[in-house]
Amino acid sequence: MNMEQIRYVDDAITTRHSVRAFLDTPVATETIKDILNVAARAPSGTNTQPWKVYVVTGQKRAEMIERVCAAQQALFQQPELAEQYQETFAYYPETWISPFIDRRRENGWGLYGLLGIQKGEKEKMAAQQLRNYQLFDAPVALYFTVNKAMGIGSKMDISMMIQNVMIAAKARGLDTCPQAAWNHFHPIVLDVLGAPENEELVCTIALGYADPDHIVNTFITPREPVENFTVFLDQ
Ligand SMILES: Cc1cc2nc3c(=O)[nH]c(=O)nc-3n(C[C@H](O)[C@H](O)[C@H](O)COP(=O)(O)O)c2cc1C
Repeated sequence: MNMEQIRYVDDAITTRHSVRAFLDTPVATETIKDILNVAARAPSGTNTQPWKVYVVTGQKRAEMIERVCAAQQALFQQPELAEQYQETFAYYPETWISPFIDRRRENGWGLYGLLGIQKGEKEKMAAQQLRNYQLFDAPVALYFTVNKAMGIGSKMDISMMIQNVMIAAKARGLDTCPQAAWNHFHPIVLDVLGAPENEELVCTIALGYADPDHIVNTFITPREPVENFTVFLDQ
C-alpha cells in the first residue's frame, strides 16, 4: 500500500464513531451485500466463520421496533420483569473497578450532558435508552447470531466481522452504532427474526446515513495514549 492508500484505511478506522441519530434515507440492498461480502474476510479460528447476519428493514423492522419498545416500556414501569430479560452472556462485569467504571461514567455523562439530561432525570434517561430500540431511526438493523454449539471464542470471531462491517460501511459514506442493548430482549428479537432454537443473539448494528445536524452525533469519545495500554518488551 502506498501512503495515500494507508491514509484511506486509517481514515475509515479513525473517523468511525457510534452514530445515534440517522436520516431515513434507505440503504441499497446491493450496498449492504457488498459490505457483508467484504466484512466476511474477517479471520476466525480455524476459518469456522461462525457468524450469521439478519438484515432487517421495512415492515420487519417496524414489527421489531414495536415489540421491543413495548417490552422496554413495560420493563421501565415494572422493573421486576428484568428477570425475563437476562442476557445470555454477561457483557459487563458484575462488579465494576477503576479505571473502567470511570471511563464508563465519563462516557455516559458526556452523552447525557450533550442531550441536556441531568442526574436523576429518569424519564429522560429511559427515553434515550428507548432510542436504542428505535435503532436511532436507522433504516437498517443487522442482528448477528451464533450457533449455541460454538464456544466463547466464536464471539471474538464475530466481533472481528462486526468491526469490518462498521469500517466497510464508513468507507461507503454510511455510519453505524454497535448495540448490545438488544441482547436483553433476545427472546423477542429471535422470535421476530424467526431464528432457530440453536441460535444466540450476540450483537446488533444500526446502519444508515448519519443525521449531520443532530447534536448527539458530535459526541466523539477519547482514547488513552498508546503508552498507557502497551508494554514493549525486548530483553
Ligand atoms: C459491543 C458493543 C456494544 C455497544 N452497545 C451499545 C448500545 O447498546 N447502545 C449505544 O448507544 N452504544 C453502544 N455501544 C457504543 C459504545 O458506547 C461506543 O463504542 C464507545 O462509547 C466508544 O465510542 P465510539 O464508538 O463513538 O468510538 C456499544 C459498543 C460496542 C463495541
